[in-house]
Amino acid sequence: MARDLTQLELLTELEPVAEENVNRHLSMAKEWHPHDYVPWDEGRNFAAMGGIDWEPGQSKLNEVAKAAMITNLLTEDNLPSYHREIAENFSQDGAWGTWVGRWTAEENRHGIVIRDYLVVTRGVDPVALEQARMVHMTNGFASPTEVDAGFLHSVAYVTFQELATRVSHRNTGKVCDDPIADRMLQRVAADENLHMIFYRNLCGAALDLAPDQALDAVALILENFQMPGAGMPNFRRNGVLMAKHGIYDLRQHLEEVVQPVLKKWRIFEREDFTARGEQTRDRLAVFLDKLSKDVTKFEEQRDRMLAREAAKRDRELATASVG
Ligand SMILES: [Fe+2]
Ligand SMILES: [Fe+2]
Repeated sequence: MARDLTQLELLTELEPVAEENVNRHLSMAKEWHPHDYVPWDEGRNFAAMGGIDWEPGQSKLNEVAKAAMITNLLTEDNLPSYHREIAENFSQDGAWGTWVGRWTAEENRHGIVIRDYLVVTRGVDPVALEQARMVHMTNGFASPTEVDAGFLHSVAYVTFQELATRVSHRNTGKVCDDPIADRMLQRVAADENLHMIFYRNLCGAALDLAPDQALDAVALILENFQMPGAGMPNFRRNGVLMAKHGIYDLRQHLEEVVQPVLKKWRIFEREDFTARGEQTRDRLAVFLDKLSKDVTKFEEQRDRMLAREAAKRDRELATASVG
């Protein structure tokens, strides 16, 4: 049986693909400036500078939009952790090094623009936001799999994660009920899409180079997938709100993130796996089948929960009008 490629062999073999894709990325990425996406004329001083501090009534965002904005921003804030992960598992040399630097710089813009928007428009409590950022960044991000990450696991994870954040930013923009926020998050989502393409192409090339070994990593990542925000303060509450209102739910995870990527890699059509890869593929098929059943179960629960909440609101309205 052929042995697995080492980390160094993978990086050396895939260097030309990295170079081609860095060049592709640089030719497609648009320059944009965070300050162009923030309504500065809505800003005013806080108490420390003679103005007034944040109060809930100042926010124009609904509860779902707030939860989604905070989750997405804290996720972006944790960039040093992701940078560490990518920098450790990719090389610092040549095209790999160029990519790591460029990608990190682009990601930093996302946190800058979303925070500026939220603070200027008073969309969320800036003190609570800062406290949550401190906790989340201090904890850092840990790879969701127990195994030592390595290049293949990293590149598989970020492919799905970039696409997941694209979906999440895009749908957050829609629930904000503010064309400025929507435009900003569309801009961020467009970046995430280009990032996803880079990683997806690299992981695709790794599948061509070492099919069994790369599929192992892909399957392990999907079976253990967690959004990068897992572990942040209120992640469960906010995650549930986001799933309940279709910002990022299980169906979107399956149909807009997992399936399109697996299709692009032709996982279920490929003929270059050996018995080992075929076994992994069978396991992946079982996992996907279970996931699709979970989607149905989740949606049935969600429908019942939303119906109960609507009935409760109706009862409260009726009581209020009688009283
Ligand atoms: Fe980002
Ligand atoms: Fe990204």
